[in-house]
Amino acid sequence: MQPSGSERPLDWMRRSTIEGFAALVVGAGSGMGEACARVFAANGGRVIVADMNAESAERVAAEICASGGEARAVRLDVSSADDIEAGVRAVLDAYGRLDVLINVAVKVASVFLEDADYDDWEKAFHVNVTSALKLARACLPHLRQSPSPAIVFAGSLAGVNGYARSGSYGPSKGALITLARQMALEWAPDNIRVNVVIPGTIITPAMTRDLSAEAIETRKQQIPLGRLSEPGEQADAAVFLASPAASFITGQVLVVDGGFSQALYPQPMGMRETMRDYAMRKHT
Ligand SMILES: NC(=O)c1ccc[n+]([C@@H]2O[C@H](COP(=O)([O-])OP(=O)(O)OC[C@H]3O[C@@H](n4cnc5c(N)ncnc54)[C@H](O)[C@@H]3O)[C@@H](O)[C@H]2O)c1
Repeated sequence: MQPSGSERPLDWMRRSTIEGFAALVVGAGSGMGEACARVFAANGGRVIVADMNAESAERVAAEICASGGEARAVRLDVSSADDIEAGVRAVLDAYGRLDVLINVAVKVASVFLEDADYDDWEKAFHVNVTSALKLARACLPHLRQSPSPAIVFAGSLAGVNGYARSGSYGPSKGALITLARQMALEWAPDNIRVNVVIPGTIITPAMTRDLSAEAIETRKQQIPLGRLSEPGEQADAAVFLASPAASFITGQVLVVDGGFSQALYPQPMGMRETMRDYAMRKHT
């Protein structure tokens, strides 16, 4: 249980550890999910690395174990009720407890609304929203037994703002954010915290495969911190939200984007250059 009020030590940040906690990380075979599994294990937690790509899950779990962490792999397609049940069972069989669920599995679509195929639309809502609920509900009875239970989902700025040609992706991420907030309210009496990390553009294998070097350069210039995010920076935010350090944070959306979403006016009033160009010129 979290210490509260006068019982809460001043060095709670240092003491609020996930040592021994067991996490189910879904979508952990690549990118942010892989980094979440690695960070959780590196900080003393125990992880089930779950992904629909069994080979990736095995690789990540093996690498965590090789570096001294505790992890096991499970093939889990979040859109399958049987796989969800098996994944939850795997955590309990391996570690006897379930403290944290991190789910970043996603179905992405890059299509204009006018052209969107309704089958794809329904599949995306099934993976990104309905399956997120089914997964969380399957974890619920076990999370209730944890001294510090938490759920973290990955959202997207496309779920907050309109994002042309994102097909069902943006709308389904918007629904996921609202779903997480509703979970936070309904499960707060059980002390279960539910939050969302919204990543900015992450350097992942998919990103470097799908975007041209020029597009990546343009994106860097749109980000006030001047670079893309490392997957580990998203994982640090997710693991923080999952940890007792975030004991009073629930129903929140943490945007981890290097300032991208705040950069509506990159060129200050009365200046002929962007803030970044100005700073570069001044310092060189
Ligand atoms: N990469 C970015 O720049 C970015 C930006 C905004 C939001 N996000 C969000 O962050 C999350 C992680 O993104 P990423 O780029 O690290 O992802 P990624 O594509 O690198 O990895 C996603 C993983 O999920 C797995 N997966 C997909 N469908 C699944 C399913 N049905 N069941 C189980 N596993 C499944 C994939 O096999 C893959 O290993 C996603 O939810 C994404 O929408 C990413």
